[in-house]
Amino acid sequence: MNNWATSQNIWDADLYENQHDFVWQYGEELLKLLRPQSGELILDLGCGTGQLTAEIAQSGAEVKGIDSAATMIEKARQNYPHLRFDVADARNFLVEQPLDAVFSNAALHWIQPPTDVIRCIYQAIKPGGRFVAEFGGKGNIQAIITALYTALIANGVIQPETLNPWYFPSISEYATILETQGFAVIYATLFNRPTPLSGAEKSLANWIQMFANDFFVGLSSQQKNQIINEVEKCLLTQLYHQGTWTVDYRRIRVIAIKS
Ligand code: BEZ
Repeated sequence: MNNWATSQNIWDADLYENQHDFVWQYGEELLKLLRPQSGELILDLGCGTGQLTAEIAQSGAEVKGIDSAATMIEKARQNYPHLRFDVADARNFLVEQPLDAVFSNAALHWIQPPTDVIRCIYQAIKPGGRFVAEFGGKGNIQAIITALYTALIANGVIQPETLNPWYFPSISEYATILETQGFAVIYATLFNRPTPLSGAEKSLANWIQMFANDFFVGLSSQQKNQIINEVEKCLLTQLYHQGTWTVDYRRIRVIAIKS
């Protein structure tokens, strides 16, 4: 039986917007695969602070963004008051009308179990409609995870892997789930996308503070800082070059059609 993790990550929407804008900048390529058309009904699942939702809307499509983090939705509504955003759980949401497409960038690795998410997406889409997604794939941020586990164990945390909130599937694993639920997978790829962080030498520490809270539940801020220092030291030769930290992202990208 799978023991699915539920992330307790704390989403600071201002920090996310100010220091992690690469998240939606890299999403531009996925928008090209979505090819939104005027008049289509599209859901942006895991919309964050709404930047890609707004780009989809520029096509003339009718778009709504959903995210489980109320802080992100509040910010998205401030950013784009003319668009619709709602707090919703990707494993359990309803739509008013069947959709032409569900789009999701850099969100689905946070949500488990994937079978519940895909079932929900399938129910929301019209026959012939599409699901276009990109998120962390098998091997994503492997260097960071290994360094985190090592530092956590060295600081007395037993079995840090049980704290891991992320789901990074292989193509075969994810395509099988999609097909089992009734989708036809027409495109799937897994590729490395090393991503330089802005903000110089503290940027990896900032990234960990933003995205890896689940590993530090119950620890003091002193223990947390100690672990982050150890992670930085461990990754120095691998991920820090000429004053820039580069995260070892690996993405899975899929297009699936509801048959
Ligand atoms: C990702 O986009 O792959 C990712 C971001 C934060 C934490 C884990 C993965």
